[in-house]
Amino acid sequence: MAEGLFYMTTIIIYRIWFHPLAKYPGPFVAKFTDWYSVYHAFLGDRHIDFHQLHEKYGPTVRYGPHRIAMNSNTALREVYHVRSNSQKSQFFTVFQHFFKVNMIMTTLDHQEHAFKRRIAAQALTPAALKGMEPLILRNTRIFCEKMLDNPDDKTKKWNSARNMSDWCGWLVNDIMGDITFHRNWNMLTSDENRELLKVLNQGVGGLNMMGHMPGVLKLQLDKILFRSATESTYKYERLTEEQTAWRFAQEGKIQEHDIFGGLMGAHDKETNRSLTREELIAEAGLFIIAGSDTTGSAITATIFYLLHNPECYARCEKEVRETFSDLEEIHGGEQLDTCQYLQACITEAMRMSPGVGGTLLREAMKGGMTIDGTYFPEGTDVGVANYAIHHNADYYPEPFAFRPQRWLLSSQHKDGVSAEEIQLAKSAYTPFGVGRASCMGQKLAYNEMMGVIGRLMFLYDMRLQPGSSLGEGGEHMGKNRSRKDEFQMWDVFVASHQGPMVEFRPR
Ligand code: HEM
Repeated sequence: MAEGLFYMTTIIIYRIWFHPLAKYPGPFVAKFTDWYSVYHAFLGDRHIDFHQLHEKYGPTVRYGPHRIAMNSNTALREVYHVRSNSQKSQFFTVFQHFFKVNMIMTTLDHQEHAFKRRIAAQALTPAALKGMEPLILRNTRIFCEKMLDNPDDKTKKWNSARNMSDWCGWLVNDIMGDITFHRNWNMLTSDENRELLKVLNQGVGGLNMMGHMPGVLKLQLDKILFRSATESTYKYERLTEEQTAWRFAQEGKIQEHDIFGGLMGAHDKETNRSLTREELIAEAGLFIIAGSDTTGSAITATIFYLLHNPECYARCEKEVRETFSDLEEIHGGEQLDTCQYLQACITEAMRMSPGVGGTLLREAMKGGMTIDGTYFPEGTDVGVANYAIHHNADYYPEPFAFRPQRWLLSSQHKDGVSAEEIQLAKSAYTPFGVGRASCMGQKLAYNEMMGVIGRLMFLYDMRLQPGSSLGEGGEHMGKNRSRKDEFQMWDVFVASHQGPMVEFRPR
């Protein structure tokens, strides 16, 4: 007992005063324990906390014994660059704990990670994406119909309000079930599987907390400390296994392309390898989360900001209604891509409320790495927090204002900005991550997001439910969440949120 106490005290003293990172500013508790991160992961406010830490301590903050957060576009490039001397942090291995084998996101080794990306790329070719489009549209049509109380009633009256966080969540999960496995979850049409959305969210939230304290898992304390989140994670693992078992059994029966089929059929020439059955299950588990929660958050956030900024809403609606004369013209492709204002609104919404708001940690490898001229020794976890850099006024003047025009050229749009300003904004923009491990589904996601919002605007007038403030900030939520016109998210690695409550009427 006394020896243990002595050991702990020595470590704490070392970490506070003698550790190589001791000279960097940050909250006192975080100097000697990662419970600081676990606590904020529990509160779901890590994204906001990073913003405040940088406001208080500057661009380089020590927020854990071995962890540094930075807040510049140069750091963004240097930490995540393909040639950076870094690998994904051990944090990511927590996801592997449940699937037993690595998936792309949890693979630290560069060569192995590159192999997995080459395999996944074969499942996401432009031709494959085209093949998935009918599945995306089928779900989008159902979703649009469900915005009305009675789809046959085309009278111009406001329908009862829909909670967009729920409905967009159900939509993107149905899409992901279809395009990953050819197995729709039917969340839009039945409440049987809707519970799954909570399970996924809680499961990832649980992993997020445990990822910051891997010791919790080693000692199996997760079952005591994070019981409900742990149960959710196991449910999520079982569900993925069940889905993949079903999909394996369909081999040869499904003719159209889906991601799982693409992964099964993929072979890497460089290594002469394919994915094993276990790796396929793990990869499928990743795709469900990677492609659904993030896309749902982005669609919901865009709707929130459009409805809180009537001028932007009117301009976006005008663009969509002038570009298309028939609903079925609205799908991924050149015509949809001409809707620059719609695209700028989505980009700006993901800047204001990124679906992954915290740091995507990278660990300095042997020899350490130098970021923004500062050397960090091997083993240091360094990251740039998405929400913090997205609200850094050096790159985004008036960072808390929704201004889609910051992404538009002044030569083409009267209130746009210069090419240099857009370049600067892009240099700090990272909702999809950047560099070696950046998101592989960006094109798919934009097609989905623009198609869904485009169709809603083509079909309906929309308004916030009178009297409802769900999704908004407010004084009662504390200083950090007091902005009424900011969509409130809870950081669970991805994001959890509620609202806005929206009413629709046929145009
Ligand atoms: C708005 C929607 C989306 C957002 C905001 C988003 C965001 C992200 C982020 C932040 C990462 C982590 C990057 C890193 O660690 O540096 C990621 C990784 C990934 N995303 Fe997405 N994502 C979206 C949609 C999708 C979709 C639709 C798919 C696939 C169908 C997808 C597939 C992936 C994959 C496979 C990875 C792992 C990449 C790797 O580790 O190398 N994502 N995404």
